[in-house]
Amino acid sequence: MSVSSRFETSQARPTLEGAGVQLHRAFGFQDPTELDPFLLFDDFRGDHPDMFEKGFPWHPHRGIETITYVLSGSVDHTDSLGNTGTLGAGDVQWMTAGSGIMHQEMPHGNAKGQMHGFQLWANLPSSLKMTAPRYQDVDAKEIPEITDDDGTRVKVIVGDFWGKSGPVDGIAADPQYLDISVPAGVKKTFKLSHHRRSFAYVYEGDAAFADASTPTGILLEKEVGGEEVNIRDMSGNRTLVRFGASDSVTVQAGAQGVRFLLISGQPLQEPVAWHGPIVMNTRAELMQAVKDLRNGTFIKPAH
Ligand code: CO
Repeated sequence: MSVSSRFETSQARPTLEGAGVQLHRAFGFQDPTELDPFLLFDDFRGDHPDMFEKGFPWHPHRGIETITYVLSGSVDHTDSLGNTGTLGAGDVQWMTAGSGIMHQEMPHGNAKGQMHGFQLWANLPSSLKMTAPRYQDVDAKEIPEITDDDGTRVKVIVGDFWGKSGPVDGIAADPQYLDISVPAGVKKTFKLSHHRRSFAYVYEGDAAFADASTPTGILLEKEVGGEEVNIRDMSGNRTLVRFGASDSVTVQAGAQGVRFLLISGQPLQEPVAWHGPIVMNTRAELMQAVKDLRNGTFIKPAH
């Protein structure tokens, strides 16, 4: 972890998940207050079927939402409630597990054998942990994309941005989920709310991320697109940038441009009791979930 430009950066770490999927975890299973309301972020981009084809066979979820965003390849999804579907390139699935689902998620490569995507876990507030499960499957075509004069492109998956609203709604953490592309050398400022927890995850190219209070004109070592930036502050592929309580972020794209996700949400500030794919508020609720799994009462009948 390094502190630069008053933002904290770290690299996603190689992790084995599911039945042996090789992925990179940007955060998760550590301090759940750090990016509250978000619990986990997995980058499961793999360029060979060996890395992902074992998939994520049947497993439960309770008390959270999982947000899957596919860039290439596909993910077949089946659950215990009879829901089934395939997420293709550009598609998003926002799943509210609520009181409980059992599902499997099986990735498949594209013609080149690649499967690229991300999964984010958002926590549910205590009042909604046992809500009925809900899916929002979003086709790539439904996601608005805005192009600015300087070539910056923003896909609005959730939340409002530059006058567009994303297709996913009714989410407890009031999140914003943007997929942003800034061309080489372009400098762009994005508004943040210091009441919210915000982070960026870089997945192509690189950029310097700075906030408004970062002094400029010091430690200048490299010129990028006419702007001098400290090369040590460049964040590249698989870098997580945590913004803390900032009102804005200025992104100075490097020589290859940059693609990153910009995600924020309202902190829940509730106690977290976490066991694998089940996240509740108390240990007693976790024990109840384990008991429900054992007794076959984990899945609640629809009302
Ligand atoms: Co799952």
